[in-house]
Amino acid sequence: MKIQAEALTKIYIQGEKRIHALNDIHVSIAENKFTAIVGPSGCGKSTFLRALSALEKPSGGTVTYDGEDIYKLTEKKRAELRRQKIGVVYQDYSLLPTMTALENICTPSLMDGRKPDLDYIADLAKTLGITDRLHHIPSEMSGGEQQRVSVARALVNKPAIIFADEPTGNLDKDSARELLDLLLLTKKEYNQTLLMVTHDPDIAAHADIVIRMDNGTIRE
Ligand SMILES: Nc1ncnc2c1ncn2[C@@H]1O[C@H](COP(=O)(O)OP(=O)(O)OP(=O)(O)O)[C@@H](O)[C@H]1O
Ligand SMILES: [Mg+2]
Repeated sequence: MKIQAEALTKIYIQGEKRIHALNDIHVSIAENKFTAIVGPSGCGKSTFLRALSALEKPSGGTVTYDGEDIYKLTEKKRAELRRQKIGVVYQDYSLLPTMTALENICTPSLMDGRKPDLDYIADLAKTLGITDRLHHIPSEMSGGEQQRVSVARALVNKPAIIFADEPTGNLDKDSARELLDLLLLTKKEYNQTLLMVTHDPDIAAHADIVIRMDNGTIRE
């Protein structure tokens, strides 16, 4: 699926203040490639990822998937698009606090009326090293474990596009590398487009394309 942003802007209003989080961004995301988004804290990376992943309506401009403006779709159609095409790893994990890891991982399948593929989930859990955490709720897990659960949840439906916001932010170097390997392997196996925000230069070095952001704009 071809993702394109045209004249994308996002302004947050906070009391009297207007925060220009995204400033006139034009970009095409290469299909079936790994694109890394890098830049200083507060430069708009998460906002950009949310706008591209149909999670947050921009203040101006368009985001199109295969030429279709995703923010012109009805809320229902957009939710359907998210369920069927997109997997998201949120910067704060956003796991459901009362559900176990396994229940969290199954959510995207259940929401889309699919039977969770328990074999695939077992494989993912094994690779991610969270097999013995599957029956625990998030508050009983470390940050890094929650992060890996959120990765499994993003991958479970084998979506066409994976959006990951700092998915290795809470992991040590070896675990970060293993997680990257998993994402690259799934990307290859299921022909996915991978878009990842990262602060880690070693991870960005593996990307096919690097988007550098500064102050709500793309520098290159
Ligand atoms: N919901 C919001 N309301 C008001 N301002 C916001 C909101 N979300 C983000 N911002 C502001 O928009 C700007 C961009 O934020 P964003 O979270 O996209 O940055 P980021 O590059 O992801 O930073 P980090 O690397 O720290 O995660 C910041 O100035 C931030 O304070
Ligand atoms: Mg962020």
